[in-house]
Amino acid sequence: MQKRSLLLSHASQLLRLRGKTVPRRGASMRDLGIIEDGAVLIENGKIAAVGTTDELRAHAKRAEENDCRNKVVLPGFVDSHTHPVFATPRLIDFEKRIAGASYEEIAEVGGGIRSSIRGVRESSVEQLVQHVRAALHEMSAYGTTTVEAKSGYGLDLPSELKSLEAIQQAAKNWSGSLVSTLLAAHVVSPEHRENPDEYVRIVCDEIIPDTAGRGLKPTPHGRGGDIYGKPKGVPLQRTRLAEYVDVFCERGAFTPEQSVRILRAAVANGLKTRIHIGQLTHTALDLFAEFHPVSVDHLDHVTDADIAWLAKTDTVATLLPAANYFLGLSNFPPARKLIDSGVAVALATDYNPGTSPTTSMPFVLSVACTHLKMLPAEAITAATMNGACALNLQHRKGSLEVGKDADIAIFDAQDYREIPYWFGVNRCRKVFQNGKQI
Ligand code: NIG
Ligand code: FE
Repeated sequence: MQKRSLLLSHASQLLRLRGKTVPRRGASMRDLGIIEDGAVLIENGKIAAVGTTDELRAHAKRAEENDCRNKVVLPGFVDSHTHPVFATPRLIDFEKRIAGASYEEIAEVGGGIRSSIRGVRESSVEQLVQHVRAALHEMSAYGTTTVEAKSGYGLDLPSELKSLEAIQQAAKNWSGSLVSTLLAAHVVSPEHRENPDEYVRIVCDEIIPDTAGRGLKPTPHGRGGDIYGKPKGVPLQRTRLAEYVDVFCERGAFTPEQSVRILRAAVANGLKTRIHIGQLTHTALDLFAEFHPVSVDHLDHVTDADIAWLAKTDTVATLLPAANYFLGLSNFPPARKLIDSGVAVALATDYNPGTSPTTSMPFVLSVACTHLKMLPAEAITAATMNGACALNLQHRKGSLEVGKDADIAIFDAQDYREIPYWFGVNRCRKVFQNGKQI
């Protein structure tokens, strides 16, 4: 059978990011493996060869050629933290903050996360699917090829399941890859505000076990875009409705003790863990060591002890600076200190209606450079290879290496530093997701 091959050639810079399937730390975050006049050969959805245009022409004689002159070619972004299942924007919160109220003050008087609940509970799965699908397509346009998507605006069993179902259905018609996360522990549900421990019990004894038992349909491994389909010849594997459980461990959300109970229930039910932590106040990270969370996210408030702990683990520190930007904060997570101490840092959008209504990874990279003082090369590594590590997908995603999925973004630029430099505009010109041009 004739193989379908496509050669992307003559890239001004091709960013390979090769060499490791562990998160990048320290100086290695600055090594993008740049190939000038670079080329990459795509065959059957995978990367078949990477090198200079001259090198690849020799063994890609019959490939269709796509000229990438004056373009930077890099691995598609891995947006490893998003909340796309909501119904409406939170414009009242937006104006209240402009008038001086803080995120926590707004939440205390009925705004914040709880104000997104009604919209989700009252929406049909189909309506939510449309919202998620629109977000995924917007993300693709900015060069994102893999997305982690959380529930978390339903806060009861049927609405959390409906949210996860919407994520999976939206992924069906999207050629990128998707990982889903149960975030029933986003805040205490409105019904249980007077008795938060009862809500924690419901999350542990009902929502987590029910979610973990669902969606065990035969599917190709990890191909988010194919959740319900089975291309011929792909080995069967069971995929859950959610792979991860997340918890918002924070003042006004869940205490460290409640968070531990929730994460224990996750592990007991065979789900992996990730944590929202240190966004508004500090909580010691080593309280959660037993869960080996794949990622700890936000980290605006961390101590030297937390940083020392992180530097010793494979847990990725995922920074979400678009949230700081949108909340109008003057403090940002200490990326410089984290990177210089050997912590594996990733960047993600945190796309959500309250603190970060953006689908743009290039914008996040720009804020990371201007406000977190990350170098452009560090920001790109954080948004590709380290994002893949934050989803346990480093063997398939995050770099341009033979055998990996052909997830590729092509930017109108001659130098990779232009990606965070030109902010607020979209210079992404082409995207391949699992080899498919979108
Ligand atoms: O990551 N911190 C918790 N969750 C979101 C905010 C969600 C919201 O305000 O709707 C975040 O910033
Ligand atoms: Fe978040």
